[in-house]
Amino acid sequence: MRGKEMTRGKFITFEGCEGCGKSTQLRLLSEYLDKKGIDYILTREPGGSEIAEQIRRIILDGKNADMSDECEALLYAAAREQHLKDRVIPALNSGELVICDRYVDSSLAYQGTARGLGEKFIEMINYHAIHDYSPDLTVFLNLPPDKAFSRKHGADENDRMEQQGLDFHMKVYKGYLALAEKYPRISPVDCSGTKTETNAKIIALLESKGII
Ligand code: TYD
Repeated sequence: MRGKEMTRGKFITFEGCEGCGKSTQLRLLSEYLDKKGIDYILTREPGGSEIAEQIRRIILDGKNADMSDECEALLYAAAREQHLKDRVIPALNSGELVICDRYVDSSLAYQGTARGLGEKFIEMINYHAIHDYSPDLTVFLNLPPDKAFSRKHGADENDRMEQQGLDFHMKVYKGYLALAEKYPRISPVDCSGTKTETNAKIIALLESKGII
């Protein structure tokens, strides 16, 4: 459709702490969109395209325990830039709805707040990674990490980020709460109920924002 090609598609991101149920919620949302016949692409960070997935493996590899915080933040930004060019921008330009599992808010919460690199540093290095591609809506799945970890039955021992311990993940959580206060595009969704309840809240939110 010609008219559709002229309008940039909507860009939605999902954020949350480890084990908050993000993967499940993205699956339930996909099933809903499929059933409704709504076109979208679902992608993820870090990764989502060939080169970005290679960067993902380096970042998350449990053997890279000596990686500096700055290197980590720069690699996330590098993967973001590549993924944006390979997948997100082409889809948005052809009018598609893009749903991305994590984006720059992850860097702000994990590297900026929890690693202590600060917001300025993260904004500076991501300036060149995200261009003007700010999400239209960010769904923050709000579940404190202590609850999330018990749901998930502990952390994955091969995943460098999951291995950071509860204190680190509590800092990430506080980082997210501060971001949600600061940016109106971030909508927190309380995830303390059942999967189905959370799914219904997400659908209602997307409808109320005119996304679907
Ligand atoms: P993943 O296995 O996809 O975790 P999840 O299912 O929780 O999304 O691994 C991504 C990890 O990378 C996760 O621990 C969050 C972290 N991360 C950052 O620290 N900074 C970032 O910018 C991004 C995108 C992710």
